[in-house]
Amino acid sequence: MSETPASPRAGKRRPLVVGNWKMNGSSASNEALLAALKAASFGDAEVSVCVPAVYLHDVADALHGGAVHWGAQDCSSHDSGAYTGEISAAMLAEFGCCHVIVGHSERRALHGESDRLVAEKAAAALKHGLVPIVCVGETLAEREAGQTEAVVGRQLGAAIELLDKRIDGVVIAYEPVWAIGTGKTASPAEAQAVHAFLRKTLAVAGAASASLRILYGGSVKADNAAQLFAEPDIDGGLIGGASLKAADFIAICRAAG
Ligand code: PGA
Repeated sequence: MSETPASPRAGKRRPLVVGNWKMNGSSASNEALLAALKAASFGDAEVSVCVPAVYLHDVADALHGGAVHWGAQDCSSHDSGAYTGEISAAMLAEFGCCHVIVGHSERRALHGESDRLVAEKAAAALKHGLVPIVCVGETLAEREAGQTEAVVGRQLGAAIELLDKRIDGVVIAYEPVWAIGTGKTASPAEAQAVHAFLRKTLAVAGAASASLRILYGGSVKADNAAQLFAEPDIDGGLIGGASLKAADFIAICRAAG
């Protein structure tokens, strides 16, 4: 009896590329972008778009039945109640969301989100069947002060502490704050060093570190994606600006697949 040949990626983590639209889009511009994504193929890569929540109904309609998943950019740590303006993970699940970004540096900086709150949001997402994408990353001042590992270790540590074994259900995104929207990308070697540190931290905590996906984010473009994704501990990307243009985002997704 002949044996089934092993897939080329056997034993490896499936690459994941997530678009973070941030507060961008309009009903008219989303339609063309989503149609292009639905028609595209991405090789082995899993692809998802995290959109402003008000568009989730339209996005679910446009992407339904295709290969591209969708999600949101934040969720409440609470299940329901008197939290004006908040959106629960259960509500996101009702709209077919697969992923939700938690602890993006813009939310940490502009909305004062603490490491503990981010961990609680990740717990709420997991409880309702969503995959939280837990963002960590240092500022330029922290990097220059040699505190990168201390900062991302503290941010990841809060999630590990609260989630315990449930940490195996998350995706981590390393996004150096100084690289977000600035056009300054971490070099593949700089990013790889932090990813390896994060994976080691997960291993020491007893997590399934070999199968957990760690994405890189921060000025990923069509022309630097392949080099970043070639690093052994970089399992795909969280893409901001370049996820708003179909051709650029599709090229980045293909670089991962
Ligand atoms: P950028 O954003 O790709 O525009 O740098 C990445 C992010 O903030 O997730």
